[in-house]
Amino acid sequence: MKTIRVGLVGLGVRGGMAMDRLPIIPGVEVAAFCEIRQHLVDKYQAALEKRSLPRAREFVGLEAWRNLCAWDGIDVVYICSPWHLHVPIALAAMEGGKHALVEVPAAFTVDECWSLVETAERTGRYCMQLENCCYGEIEMLALNLAREGKLGDVIHGEGAYLHDLRSYNYNSPEDDAEWHYRDYWRLKWNAEHKGNQYCTHGLGPICQAMGVNRGDRLCRVVSMETAAKGFAEYAAAKVPSGDWRRDLQIAMGDMNTTLVQTEKGRTIMIQHGIASPRPYSRLNTYVGTRGILTDYPYRVAWEEEVGKGAHRYFDDQRAAKIREEFMHPQWKYAGKLAVEVGGHDGMDLIMDLRWAYCLQNGLPLDFDVYDLASWCCLGELTERSVREGSAPQAIPDFTKGRWQSRAPLGVEALAPEKMPLPSSK
Ligand SMILES: NC(=O)c1ccc[n+]([C@@H]2O[C@H](COP(=O)([O-])OP(=O)(O)OC[C@H]3O[C@@H](n4cnc5c(N)ncnc54)[C@H](O)[C@@H]3O)[C@@H](O)[C@H]2O)c1
Repeated sequence: MKTIRVGLVGLGVRGGMAMDRLPIIPGVEVAAFCEIRQHLVDKYQAALEKRSLPRAREFVGLEAWRNLCAWDGIDVVYICSPWHLHVPIALAAMEGGKHALVEVPAAFTVDECWSLVETAERTGRYCMQLENCCYGEIEMLALNLAREGKLGDVIHGEGAYLHDLRSYNYNSPEDDAEWHYRDYWRLKWNAEHKGNQYCTHGLGPICQAMGVNRGDRLCRVVSMETAAKGFAEYAAAKVPSGDWRRDLQIAMGDMNTTLVQTEKGRTIMIQHGIASPRPYSRLNTYVGTRGILTDYPYRVAWEEEVGKGAHRYFDDQRAAKIREEFMHPQWKYAGKLAVEVGGHDGMDLIMDLRWAYCLQNGLPLDFDVYDLASWCCLGELTERSVREGSAPQAIPDFTKGRWQSRAPLGVEALAPEKMPLPSSK
């Protein structure tokens, strides 16, 4: 696929950010926009015009995504809509013959995950979750170190989404109304649900390093969480009385801690905390039989000789040298541009370059519908576990046994002659 024509659904915060990246990727054309708000379509048509690119076809309206998915002028549907639309749009995209690239979390329930798996298998289309954290510099460094054997066998991981999202959810009056317009869909979701509804940022990169669905698989999960206090305290302080948001009952605990076990005896701890005033972290901890990498801040250590131990992290100088030497080749190639373009410290562009590169060069995408399903079904399963007093829940084998023979993800470079980079954003 030399030219990839993209239909972009949802031009809010995330879709708007994608418009900084997609138009600069060689061989990618933004061929269609789908929104319910015409003024956002106009805004991003102007952005295309500013780059001297052709206008995109417009699909505007609540159900317009159905027509977009059926239209033969696109190859890929890039879904940045609110959560409840991810699965219906991804299914319609695949039924319409397009590949579906879906923002996180791509799905929430076990049934939704099976429907995506079955549709991807039947239509032969990709359904990939846009899990940008798998392309973070440190996460890719960890993958590289794991493949180089520096950490030994990665036996335990700790990942998280710890991000103070109180104002993002409540759209408090002093915030910029346009930036924060989102119909409160995220607040309403968090009000209704327990468990970890946003687990894949922390989980995905660790699964890749461990070879989940490629030699191992997630098999059971238990989840426990705190009481819900942070959102209510925030609402009491920031939301005017009489406003429905002030009295909204919140089910989501301030801090959820989930433990996942794999078939081959690995464990992963995943945390979710968006209701507390605390600095951002994804933890990014990879514990191997020979060493450890952890993050926020980045630190690394391994034993030089079996049995000698690694009782302290390497000093800053050595850690920095390792970071440079073992930087993932995609970061070595495109990291400077990615940081310049922005988008979560560059990982967003590295992700978009990679799927585009794979589609253009006939390579399988780094993660597929099986990864999507096994990570995303934890939305429902962690909620069930919490509501059942942390009872263990079985995680389905969406690969139907194929995890045993699939090869782990390697450390793949982007060949410059196959994907020349623009000199600047
Ligand atoms: N990967 C990341 O780092 C990251 C960061 C932020 C958000 N996200 C994800 O991106 C997605 C979007 O989040 P957001 O913060 O941009 O939300 P948002 O509310 O700002 O944007 C959603 C957009 O979808 C539009 N929309 C609503 N209904 C629609 C419909 N029927 N058809 C077409 N468009 C419709 C809205 O008008 C809005 O502009 C979510 O899944 C979120 O979890 C991912």
